Amino acid sequence: MAPENTPLKVAVVGSGPAGLYTAEALTKQARGAVEVDVLERLPTPYGLVRYGVAPDHTSIRSIADYLRRVLELPNVRFLGGVELGRDLKVADLRACYDAVVYCTGAPVDRRMGVPGEDLPGSMAATDFVNWYCGHPEAPADRFTLDSPEVAVVGVGNVAVDVVRVLAKRAEELRATDVPEEVLARLAASRVRVIHMIGRRGPEHAKFTLKELRELGELANVDVHVRPEESAADLSRASRQVRGNVEVLRDWAARVPLGRPRRLEVRFWMRPVEIVGRDRVEGLRLERTRQTEDGVVGTGEFETLPVGMVLRSVGYRSLPLPGVPFSERTATVPNEAGRIRDREYVAGWLKRGPTGVIGTNKSDAAETVRTLLADLAGRTPVPRGDLDVLLASRGVSPVTYEHWLAIEAAEADLARSLGRGERVKLLGLPAMLDAYRG
Ligand SMILES: Cc1cc2nc3c(=O)[nH]c(=O)nc-3n(C[C@H](O)[C@H](O)[C@H](O)COP(=O)(O)OP(=O)(O)OC[C@H]3O[C@@H](n4cnc5c(N)ncnc54)[C@H](O)[C@@H]3O)c2cc1C
Ligand SMILES: NC(=O)c1ccc[n+]([C@@H]2O[C@H](COP(=O)([O-])OP(=O)(O)OC[C@H]3O[C@@H](n4cnc5c(N)ncnc54)[C@H](OP(=O)(O)O)[C@@H]3O)[C@@H](O)[C@H]2O)c1
Repeated sequence: MAPENTPLKVAVVGSGPAGLYTAEALTKQARGAVEVDVLERLPTPYGLVRYGVAPDHTSIRSIADYLRRVLELPNVRFLGGVELGRDLKVADLRACYDAVVYCTGAPVDRRMGVPGEDLPGSMAATDFVNWYCGHPEAPADRFTLDSPEVAVVGVGNVAVDVVRVLAKRAEELRATDVPEEVLARLAASRVRVIHMIGRRGPEHAKFTLKELRELGELANVDVHVRPEESAADLSRASRQVRGNVEVLRDWAARVPLGRPRRLEVRFWMRPVEIVGRDRVEGLRLERTRQTEDGVVGTGEFETLPVGMVLRSVGYRSLPLPGVPFSERTATVPNEAGRIRDREYVAGWLKRGPTGVIGTNKSDAAETVRTLLADLAGRTPVPRGDLDVLLASRGVSPVTYEHWLAIEAAEADLARSLGRGERVKLLGLPAMLDAYRG
């Protein structure tokens, strides 16, 4: 049994919503003293709240203000620039902490599995999102929007974000934190027609009503849906689906107003090939239909003359070295968050890449309940010292104060450019400069 005043020491790996809700739940649920170290590979906290949520969705971005309060708790410590796998092994964490909770999310794109997917101009939405969110590993010159027609494959909320950023005038994003170089590239965009492709019907689309409606309200865009593709069987549909289909039917009846950009929302069309000799020259689609055995191709094809394809078909977790991983589900097998003795998982790595930010709160609370029940009356682990270990490996973590200096530099940059509250610094060197001075 641990003496009553020995704090429970927990390492949380990843500082996205799952990691920070886990840290918060540990401080709230633990009966005795608890100390939480949040390890993060980037110098910045908040995961997809910073590098995923669309820059023009400022109210959702403000969830960072809530998460900030977790990092400011006296028994929670932020250690940025520390990557499990690169700087530390699982064995190191097991030696320094009573328990470890992995919350590393789902950072890479799923594949469509069609020929031509690797042609230049065929890009993952993940990369596009990282680019406009100013992820330090996404160079500003990764995207040049020089094709008049582009396709976005997928009809989920990420696809809606991507379409909105492509469709808006750059001026409309000026007050956001989009990096200045990215804004300049968006301003120079030659995109005129955006095709958004659903491989099934409107009733199967994954986007939510509020997000869908927003597309129809964009001042710069004529939205178009083919009446025959917006028809749907609503006999067993939820309110959400009925709402979506109503919006789509309304769009199908719209008369184009000659706006600078056009959005074509397509359904029952599945990508079968990305065509082109040296780069993307088109997207070949096959019409689909529902049968009792599922959705099948009809043998009717169409090729869209697009110069870029953005694949927004979902995200995928990556295995962490030394941590069990199911390749089939791309998640870490667990029981209510427990992986094995003293190791736990929460967030997208636990349940896959679905659900909104708030979903991670109840998910993290479940993991923490399991952890605390398992460790009640524990024998403390012989404690290695992580700080000493990192120093011996030449790793100097980015502290919370360093992060505040990065934030301050972003606010200064916004002021100097006459933009909104902050503008993202681009690249790791700029962030290092911000706190090293
Ligand atoms: C493009 C996009 C937009 C979204 N927009 C919204 C929205 O508007 N509203 C909404 O409610 N939900 C939105 N979501 C969903 C929401 O972002 C997720 O539910 C949530 O971020 C998942 O949390 P997580 O902590 O599991 O993963 P993440 O947020 O991805 O956090 C994982 C963290 O772990 C770190 N990490 C990874 N590997 C390591 C390692 N080896 N060592 C140390 N650290 C590591 C990462 O750098 C990251 O900071 C969006 C998702 C995407 C993809
Ligand atoms: N504003 C917000 O609240 C917000 C914003 C962004 C993201 N999020 C959340 O983040 C999560 C991830 O979003 P997401 O959009 O990446 O995933 P998603 O909701 O799972 O949508 C993925 C889309 O890709 C399609 N797809 C998958 N494989 C395909 C293929 N091979 N060919 C063609 N289409 C294919 C899917 O169609 P099928 O249905 O046919 O498989 C689906 O339309 C979701 O829970 C989402 O709600 C929320």
